[in-house]
Amino acid sequence: MLEFYLDTADVDAVTRFHNCLPVRGVTTNPSILAKAGLGINRILPELASILGGDSRFFVQVVSQTADGMVDEARKINALPYDLVVKVPATETGLAAIKQLKSENIQILATAIYSTHQGFLAALSGADYLAPYVNRIDAMGADGIKVVADLQLLINQYGLATKLLPASFKNSGQVVEVLKLGVAAITLPVDVAAQLLAHPAVQPAVDQFTVDWHYAFDNQLSFES
Ligand code: E4P
Repeated sequence: MLEFYLDTADVDAVTRFHNCLPVRGVTTNPSILAKAGLGINRILPELASILGGDSRFFVQVVSQTADGMVDEARKINALPYDLVVKVPATETGLAAIKQLKSENIQILATAIYSTHQGFLAALSGADYLAPYVNRIDAMGADGIKVVADLQLLINQYGLATKLLPASFKNSGQVVEVLKLGVAAITLPVDVAAQLLAHPAVQPAVDQFTVDWHYAFDNQLSFES
């Protein structure tokens, strides 16, 4: 089963998509939380009350040194939720990941812009990798290919790491990534909304309603 996450701090949007989709949890990053003006001690209780106790949340460290990241990750991990700590896949971050995996803390390696960078994070022990599909595309490279190559390398070397691609701007990118069989995905709410919004759907449903009422007035199907 695909792990489907929303990449947001918008509580109303989480409620909306939780009502109609199997939202496994929420991913955040420092920019998302800063823009919303919400720290994790405010947002996690709200999100957990919407999604339920078995939902999973991703919180990124903001420390700049490996020791700082390790210490911060331990404290994030001690919070009373199912948490995965996001650590940037820099040289410093990989040192922190290696240490944190020896303590069995769940880690997502984030800010992945290339296949080789992601592969090294997987070797360091990251449980999830977040390649930034649209940001890679926007730099003139191919985000889908980075995801495809990472999936191939993970399979080839029998690594337990799961791909959780992030950074999407359109539904086409999402479908291409899903076709690769990734284990997880996180979508910004505007892209999740795009997936539900084909312009032909509502007119088709409205026409069914018109045709039905013309023939059967206000009867329901089982009354006809
Ligand atoms: C995920 O780890 C990132 O925080 C995020 O998805 C980046 O998305 P953006 O390129 O839309 O900012």
